[in-house]
Amino acid sequence: MPQQQPTQRKILVTSALPYANGPIHLGHLLEYIQTDIWSRFQNSRGNLCTFVCADDAHGTAIMLRAEQEGITPEELIDRVRIEHHEDFKNFHIHFDNYHSTHSEENRYFSELIYTRLRDAGHIARRDIEQMFDPEKGIFLADRFIKGTCPECKADDQYGDNCEKCSATYSPTELINPRSAISGATPVLKTSEHYFFKLPDFQQFLAEWTQDGRLQDEVANKLKEWFSIDLQEWDISRDAPYFGFEIPDALGKYFYVWLDAPIGYLASFKNLCDQRDDLNFDDYWKPDSTAEVYHFIGKDIVYFHALFWPAMLQGANFRTPNSVYCHGFVTVNGAKMSKSRGTFIKARTYLDHLNPEHLRYYFAAKLTSRVDDLDLNFEDFVFRVNSDLVGKLVNIASRCAGFVKKGGGVLSKMSEPALYQRFVDAGESIAADYERREFGRAMRQIMELADEANTWINDQAPWVVAKQEDQAAQVQGICSTGINLFRVLMVYLTPVLPAMSKTTADFLKVDSMDWQSRIQPLEDHAIETFKPMMQRVDDKQIEALLEASREDVAKELALQAGTEEAAQEDGPLQKEPIAAEINFDDFMKVDLRIAKIIKCEAVPKANKLLKLTLDLGGETRTVFSGIKSAYKPEELEGKLTVMVANLAPRQMKFGLSEGMVLAAGDGSEIYILEPHEGAQPGMRVV
Ligand code: MSP
Ligand code: ZN
Repeated sequence: MPQQQPTQRKILVTSALPYANGPIHLGHLLEYIQTDIWSRFQNSRGNLCTFVCADDAHGTAIMLRAEQEGITPEELIDRVRIEHHEDFKNFHIHFDNYHSTHSEENRYFSELIYTRLRDAGHIARRDIEQMFDPEKGIFLADRFIKGTCPECKADDQYGDNCEKCSATYSPTELINPRSAISGATPVLKTSEHYFFKLPDFQQFLAEWTQDGRLQDEVANKLKEWFSIDLQEWDISRDAPYFGFEIPDALGKYFYVWLDAPIGYLASFKNLCDQRDDLNFDDYWKPDSTAEVYHFIGKDIVYFHALFWPAMLQGANFRTPNSVYCHGFVTVNGAKMSKSRGTFIKARTYLDHLNPEHLRYYFAAKLTSRVDDLDLNFEDFVFRVNSDLVGKLVNIASRCAGFVKKGGGVLSKMSEPALYQRFVDAGESIAADYERREFGRAMRQIMELADEANTWINDQAPWVVAKQEDQAAQVQGICSTGINLFRVLMVYLTPVLPAMSKTTADFLKVDSMDWQSRIQPLEDHAIETFKPMMQRVDDKQIEALLEASREDVAKELALQAGTEEAAQEDGPLQKEPIAAEINFDDFMKVDLRIAKIIKCEAVPKANKLLKLTLDLGGETRTVFSGIKSAYKPEELEGKLTVMVANLAPRQMKFGLSEGMVLAAGDGSEIYILEPHEGAQPGMRVV
């Protein structure tokens, strides 16, 4: 039956723009791979899907990084762009265009959107007071101020919150504040700032975010934010700043997050100028029927689901159909960590492993939800070897030899009905891809691969081949097998584009598009088979982790003496040993074995777990800043050590009656656990 060609959809997709001051890592790659798979899938189905991205090149961090390297910001972003480009290319991320936010198109659209918002009355101006570094002559964002926590007196804390006791405060409350950039004591200084009046869009956003276009989890999160009133958004920064100057305000610059999403428009415009078949207005005018989707991580929802649609709406552009949000990559169950060697750069991965293995692994674990995704290397090795090599490639390698012996030409299939079933499964697999349920799609495909292998086992061409006059039968079986393999590779092409190319060469076909599977290859010559994929070995994983640890060491050596290392992953320097105390001092601290009988996350606190401790009859409540390291249920029932005679402390979330002991270097936390036999309440000396 001739299939009716559905109308071609025009789709524009984007991934978030990576910052131009650091390398691409495996966390980023989840997003670029997810978007790339979806975009390739759409094109395979005959739609016109365009995928654009860019480097996010502006802001203080980039300005300071360049200064630290002794180069200009332009030199820095040019260099990083080349590195990003290589990483993406090697992971087979196919961008139709990769641009930069430091571009003429982006300046044009930033000014246009700003002036339209201003002229419509959506921009406010007022003076604000801010910490200022008198030595460097720059205003300091909270994370560039350090000092002693006003609550627990811990030293070396950031300007907005304490990592030790989780207190939140304003930088003016810090004791002995200093600039993390120059070390100077900051002073308060007033300057005029420009604000985007987000509350003007309250009604619009209430509908836009709740009309079913967003994932449920995202819509619910936004509803929570709505329950607190929307605030005006500060979109200006004072010179010196690496960015675009605000047209009617010399010496003031657009905050990096204002022009970053506009970079999506800029990159697309830059592409339209090179292509006759793409017209900018068709995609971005208010009544456009083209589809626009932004793929992003869960940390930047606020910018994409509130500021961005409001900006577009206020400036008379269409708004996106949806924002597709994914969770964070963890490695072996924990946040990517520099000291554990699980902070893995794209480049380092490529030095040791096959990029398509990661593409497949991510695909196999991706859902349409916002859940975090764990890259567990044991599971990774197992899945890649079992699915891709053991199941998939195996189908071809078992059949190809017989076809070759029979003349290298595929004959009529012995089992066309089985082939047809594989073809028919394509609609349900496509539906999973479309919904971004890639894991389900991979499972469907692997079930078919199992079926193909079982069928070949049952047919046993190697037995049939030993019988006389059965050559045609053997060819029929093996031609069926190769055709089944081809259909599966069509389904996997969005995930495994390089392997798909090798397969197309082997099968001598021009297209691996979805529709191409309908017609089986019969009376069709093929090439000699070469295995398309190798197994992964545990040794490669060990080498990768080792190399990643070395990366961190190199980076630290490079940054010695700067504050930069502290930014991403907490301080990595060793804590100096504290001043000597005498025995009596030590004995003042009453350490006790405590049993964690209950453990709950504290809502709204990023770092705190609420522990209920049994001290051998007595119960205590302690708030502990270990949320990043433990899931609450992991800790219940465990024994640990607590300071039992610490004066109780009133925290925002309740009274904390002591402290549990934990080891850490600022990026890792491990609570202490006594040897077996210790009982709750015992004194520790
Ligand atoms: N420059 C901004 C985005 C501007 S978009 C107009 C930014 N850059 S980023 O380099 O920090 O992150 C780029 C994307 O990678 C974001 O969507 C972010 O959520 C994602 N990820 C960064 N680390 C990640 C993980 N560990 N796991 C999954 N995604 C992660 O934010
Ligand atoms: Zn503190």
